[in-house]
Amino acid sequence: MKLIQSASLLFALFASSSTAFPTAFRPTRSNTQLDMANIAVFGASGLTAAECVYQALENGDTVVGLTRNPSKLKIPKGSGGAKADQSISNPNLTVIGGDVTNKADVDKVFAAQKIDGVVVALGGKTSDVGDTMLTDGTKNVIAAMKENGVKRLAVVTSIGAGDSENQAPFMFKILMKTVMSKIFKDKNEQEKVVKASGLEYCIVRPGGLTVDPPTGVINVIEGEAGSIARADVAQFCLDAISVPDFPYIGKAPCISSVGGTSWVKDRSSKARGEAMQ
Ligand SMILES: *[C@@H]1O[C@H](CO)[C@@H](O)[C@H](O)[C@H]1NC(C)=O
Repeated sequence: MKLIQSASLLFALFASSSTAFPTAFRPTRSNTQLDMANIAVFGASGLTAAECVYQALENGDTVVGLTRNPSKLKIPKGSGGAKADQSISNPNLTVIGGDVTNKADVDKVFAAQKIDGVVVALGGKTSDVGDTMLTDGTKNVIAAMKENGVKRLAVVTSIGAGDSENQAPFMFKILMKTVMSKIFKDKNEQEKVVKASGLEYCIVRPGGLTVDPPTGVINVIEGEAGSIARADVAQFCLDAISVPDFPYIGKAPCISSVGGTSWVKDRSSKARGEAMQ
């Protein structure tokens, strides 16, 4: 096994010249502003999830968010512009404080109002949230969706998860096999659970995440993926749960705004939009 891994790393090293075949994703929901939706966002205070919450509210949707830390949910830097970091005050937003691994907390989201579509954008370090939070939480969400007759699900994982291992740039692949090995084990299990759900799912595998303003450029990448703004990832997720003939239902696309450009995961505060010390 070790040998095979090293071999594939070596292969990646030699094959790391760009092998991307980007397909531009053309969002269709923004063209048809008629369909307001009721959306649930799990992990609501996370950087990508907050983009989903904020953009959905801006669309006129109603949103129920579940997060362990309701006070951390703020207007996101990417699409929030000058309003970034302020708290979100919108009568169409319900924030529930709770833990996605607790089914009773997940049920509260579906009890709050009728839900049409669900975004799961959970995050955190395994040292804080446990080794199986993504899988356990996603199982709870899927069970509650079935109990409530909700079909559409977008789940944010990562480039490199599941069968996209070879779409991760070389340096990121090394992180996946070392410091991020636990979280990737959980992400891989989470993807399996989603694929077996029988729901109209889209597993969204973004490249390197930034807090930049939305570019509107979302490429589905077959080869090695580059970076993408969280705001663009959110738009893709919202389209996945609200566009009737969304083209990536039952699929797990890798998305990037920068087709095929190699990137190294930026773990700095700057990439998270935090003030530099
Ligand atoms: C709340 O949602 C309704 C549609 O359900 C929409 O018409 C209204 O503009 C939204 N309100 C705000 C403040 O966004």
